[in-house]
Amino acid sequence: MDSQDVQADLKHVLYSKQEIQQRVAELAAAIDEDYRDREVLIVGVLKGAVMVMADLARALHSHVSMDWMAVSSYGSGTQSSGVVRILKDLETDLMGKNVLIVEDIIDSGLTLSWLKANLESRGPASVEICTLLRKPEAAKVEIDVKYVGFDIPNEFVVGYGLDFAEKYRNLDFVGTLAPHVYE
Ligand code: XMP
Ligand code: MG
Repeated sequence: MDSQDVQADLKHVLYSKQEIQQRVAELAAAIDEDYRDREVLIVGVLKGAVMVMADLARALHSHVSMDWMAVSSYGSGTQSSGVVRILKDLETDLMGKNVLIVEDIIDSGLTLSWLKANLESRGPASVEICTLLRKPEAAKVEIDVKYVGFDIPNEFVVGYGLDFAEKYRNLDFVGTLAPHVYE
């Protein structure tokens, strides 16, 4: 879906399809360069990271392995609790691997800091993080993120993998919703 398809629900477009594509290509180039001499396993965090994983993987010029994890950090509210449950674990043994976690968005950072520590405990050679979006103002823990697509203001965004009540994941852009959608 594009912005025309959801015009009535939209407040504004934050990043267009073209802007995302451009930035993902830049991230891929940096990753290609940094992992020139090392094999990398990219780990996508379901469901939000599906779009960025698909585009990032195809923009890379080197071989990568791909695996997926699903975690849940939200109870009933919309605030991250930091208490994370693994809904789907990796199929790959991480011993000696160079792991790159790929995320859609870092908000408080609680989910990712838990996930990074969890993966680090499995004996990998390295664990780094790539996220399309980050909300610096919302950070509750300090977390070292090697690859960041865009730093954004502290507002709720949807599209390109990100949902509101499971809708809007299939937008080809990132945007904010009009207030009437929430109310
Ligand atoms: P924390 O706070 O632990 O949470 O960094 C990260 C996870 O929270 C979800 N999240 C969002 N989802 N629009 C969304 O659709 C947003 O603006 C947003 N902010 C946080 C998301 O699942 C992310 O992985
Ligand atoms: Mg996510």
